Amino acid sequence: MNITELGRTGDGAAPPGGTEQAVLAAGLVKAFGEQRAVDGIDLEVRSGEIFGVLGPNGAGKTTMLRMLSTLLPIDAGHARIFGVDVAGEPHVIRQLVGVTGQYASVDENLTARENLWLFARLQGIPSSRARRIADGLLGQFGLEEAADQPIAQFSGGMRRRLDLAASLITRPPLIFLDEPTTGLDPRTRGQMWATIRGLVADGCTVLLTTQYLDEADQLADRIAVIDHGRKVAEGTPDELKTAVGNATLQLVLAEPAESPAAAEAVRRVIGADPVLSPEKGRLNVPLDQADLAADVLIALRAAGLSISSVSVAKPSLDEVFLALTGHGTDAEENR
Ligand SMILES: Nc1ncnc2c1ncn2[C@@H]1O[C@H](COP(=O)(O)OP(=O)(O)O)[C@@H](O)[C@H]1O
Ligand SMILES: [Mg+2]
Repeated sequence: MNITELGRTGDGAAPPGGTEQAVLAAGLVKAFGEQRAVDGIDLEVRSGEIFGVLGPNGAGKTTMLRMLSTLLPIDAGHARIFGVDVAGEPHVIRQLVGVTGQYASVDENLTARENLWLFARLQGIPSSRARRIADGLLGQFGLEEAADQPIAQFSGGMRRRLDLAASLITRPPLIFLDEPTTGLDPRTRGQMWATIRGLVADGCTVLLTTQYLDEADQLADRIAVIDHGRKVAEGTPDELKTAVGNATLQLVLAEPAESPAAAEAVRRVIGADPVLSPEKGRLNVPLDQADLAADVLIALRAAGLSISSVSVAKPSLDEVFLALTGHGTDAEENR
């Protein structure tokens, strides 16, 4: 069963009133004692996009999602979801937003299938349709084999998938995913990405948080980078990466003495100087476009220069942060 069929079987809330913005928030603040966990964030998520909130541990990501989903009161500022005021109409908001984590109270003694069926029943869906929805979601999330095991036996990744499945029962038009792949193995992570893309292809809007630049890069149409409760940058993945350079081609020359000749060959291709460590024969070449890597290698061969090792490094979240904020992502070093 695909997501579209699930949408037809559920009685999900449609976004009211044709608003272009799924989320429109201004000046959001949440304080815990002296600490402003969210410190004046403006956010606009457009209908139909995947919006990524990228930030290190403790940046305020979860707090922001909890405020937007009515789970935490908003101390200052205001937020609308599909035009509906979050503080003023929390009951409407809860029908518009699917939040993973809200079904953390799964019954450990029930199976995955029974839990999904029960959640659907609690939403007022008739029994046979609830069963079809549960079966469809179990298939979609690769939980068929484990469907009849008690949740108590589930791995972390399986729980995460069941949690997302449960939040989709009513097919809400906006889905919040709080670090959907943290701690998942690469294969499960890839499956989760495909699932998220499928949700959007089917008309959902997704607001997700992540600590991983590559995840935001792969999935998000636009990204807000947050740090200590504040937004420090916003843009498309390309715009953010351009701020730090897209990638670096790291070369080691077979003959360190050939560094100057290699630097000259590189300069002719990229129009800029590589970063040299001549004594070790190392050259780091910043690349605006990944396909320039091949041009650089061809130019070096044409110049008769041989290379003992080649790798391409992508900018990490740390590098993006350093470029944007002047400090790393480790919260301790900022104190
Ligand atoms: N209920 C709470 N009480 C006190 N402090 C909190 C609470 N929830 C979060 N915080 C603090 O607010 C900051 C932001 O937390 P959080 O939103 O969980 O960050 P993130 O999700 O980006 O890791 C952290 O310093 C955290 O310790
Ligand atoms: Mg968090």
